[in-house]
Amino acid sequence: MGRLVIQGERRLDGEVHIHGAKNSALPILAATLLAQGVCELHNCPALSDVRAAAAILRHLGCRVEQHGTVVTVDATAPCRGDIPDSLMREMRSSIVFLGAIVARTGGAELSFPGGCELGPRPIDLHLAALRQMGVAIHEEGGKLHCTVNGRLVGCPITLAFPSVGATENIVLAAVTAQGITTVYNAAREPEIVDLCEFLTACGARIRGAGESTLVIEGVEALHGCCHRVIPDRIETVTYMGAAAITGGSLLLRDVCPLHLQAVLPLFEEMGCRVSVREQELLVSAPQRLTRVKSVRTLPYPGFPTDAQALLMAMACVAKGTSVFVETIFESRYKHVGELMRLGARVKVEGRVAVVEGVAQLSGAPVECTDLRGGAALVLAGLAAQGTTVLSELHHLERGYEAIIKDLTAAGASLILEE
Ligand code: UD1
Repeated sequence: MGRLVIQGERRLDGEVHIHGAKNSALPILAATLLAQGVCELHNCPALSDVRAAAAILRHLGCRVEQHGTVVTVDATAPCRGDIPDSLMREMRSSIVFLGAIVARTGGAELSFPGGCELGPRPIDLHLAALRQMGVAIHEEGGKLHCTVNGRLVGCPITLAFPSVGATENIVLAAVTAQGITTVYNAAREPEIVDLCEFLTACGARIRGAGESTLVIEGVEALHGCCHRVIPDRIETVTYMGAAAITGGSLLLRDVCPLHLQAVLPLFEEMGCRVSVREQELLVSAPQRLTRVKSVRTLPYPGFPTDAQALLMAMACVAKGTSVFVETIFESRYKHVGELMRLGARVKVEGRVAVVEGVAQLSGAPVECTDLRGGAALVLAGLAAQGTTVLSELHHLERGYEAIIKDLTAAGASLILEE
């Protein structure tokens, strides 16, 4: 992949269509494995992680076809339960296949997902819950060997933290388990609700999606269905940020404003006008943003960790001092060093970052450190004086289908140099 050359200081004005949510599409693709039949997913984003999930499904013996935003999966006859290391590495969230594979094939073999750019990504909660449901798990040589004697068995499970990934794996394992699984302190993210709605359309019996207690009554088998993936709330925040940081105005179409309730007030606090109309959102920014007092990342419905870097880019050019507290991941401030190359004033101490807004950033060569950190650098580049050259773009590709095209159409100057 090449480099992205950004000429900053251009006010954005226009419309952007928001794509389907990556973090919904991936667990739903894993869930298609449970259906004895054909599933048709609409509004699936064309992203490298989605292609990796399709590659995993094909490897497992499913027929997968992708035409534009429609992905069709025929999981009538999955024939194996292993995921090769190369595919596990391609997609960080491939661990979400574990619950579906053990439920469908009675055994799984996959490599440990290991750490990632956000710091360690432990899976102890996933494994403890699956063990409770009757999966024998043996860890050896960086691999997880999982076997099930007969059918999985539903049970009460209390999560020490409302982990999104662990909740997804439990739901996937429980929908065809014998008996009832009750998950206490379950994650409540919209992507969990979307996964549960997909599974319900396939014949699953789930109560409490979007609440802290999820009750899943196992059924014998699931059938295929047709489902539309929800809009990507983090892509939405990214484009809101692009309008905000350039003093611009963007109309975002096909969004779900309800999923952004913890985010919208912060844009207003920074001086933006946000108008919401059903599935549209109009953001109009002042000439200069005002600092946001404090941003604390929390499990949904709190402020999403995935939007922390984006708000930080905005805070870098806002009037006043903003404070960020990252409570979800240990090392989610990798973008700070790169923002500072552009002239940002940020001090990090442990999980706290203090951002003193400057009147102007100035363009420089910078690297994407991770997916959302990379998007934050695009925002900073849009605001900076002069030229910003962004490299390591493969991170951006994981989450943004058309960011260059969309921002260019709204008046940004972005050129991809191969
Ligand atoms: C997290 C985010 C999700 C985001 C995704 C991608 C939260 C709660 N989750 O989901 O919104 O879309 O990253 O950036 O904001 N943990 C354990 N043991 C486990 C599982 C998790 O200790 O077995 C800890 C993690 O170290 C982390 C926290 O729980 O501190 C959040 O983990 P989890 O929600 O599972 O992460 P993801 O599913 O990746």
